[in-house]
Amino acid sequence: MTAPKIAFICASLREGSINKKLEKALMKRFKISGAKTSSIDLGKYEMPLFHGDLETPKTVKKLITRLKGFDGIVVISPEYNGCLPPLLKNTIDWTSTVSTDYIKSAVWGLASCSPGPMSGIMCMRQMQFIFTRLGGDVLPQQVGCGNASKAFNERGDLVAQPASTFADNMRDMMLERISQKG
Ligand SMILES: Cc1cc2nc3c(=O)[nH]c(=O)nc-3n(C[C@H](O)[C@H](O)[C@H](O)COP(=O)(O)O)c2cc1C
Repeated sequence: MTAPKIAFICASLREGSINKKLEKALMKRFKISGAKTSSIDLGKYEMPLFHGDLETPKTVKKLITRLKGFDGIVVISPEYNGCLPPLLKNTIDWTSTVSTDYIKSAVWGLASCSPGPMSGIMCMRQMQFIFTRLGGDVLPQQVGCGNASKAFNERGDLVAQPASTFADNMRDMMLERISQKG
């Protein structure tokens, strides 16, 4: 059996991002379970703010091509003012004008890390709505990780509860769903 291919996308480009930290911790957990993991750096796919009169930038098709063929995609995003950040929304909007096939063909896992206790719950709800609306198979188990400064150990592993259990549940659910799809 071939290893399931899982992409990880962090919606914060910030150096020292707590969501990048969560991305790394999640990738490690998937790798241990036999998945083939890839980190997709949105910084390499710069897009102007969407405007209907603009020609589609080359990076849009490049990103879609890169994301095609993954069995699962995990998005790890900060919450901005109770919403998903403009980087993620802009990326979704641009790609949706070309193709949503890469959304329809993957199982989607959602995660969010916040410095406070609320764990980006509103952002995850919005991501769930958007990816479901675009035809994605979105897992009900999400990984909300609050109080980021205490959530990771010195090796960068996710140790806080309930986030750690959420991460295991989401990984197991995703790998199971992918194996069922065959
Ligand atoms: C414009 C802006 C709005 C924010 N709004 C929220 C919010 O609604 N909820 C929340 O938990 N944190 C909010 N934060 C704090 C972010 O969670 C925090 O800056 C976090 O570190 C960003 O993620 P990153 O470290 O991965 O870049 C906001 C930050 C910014 C810059």
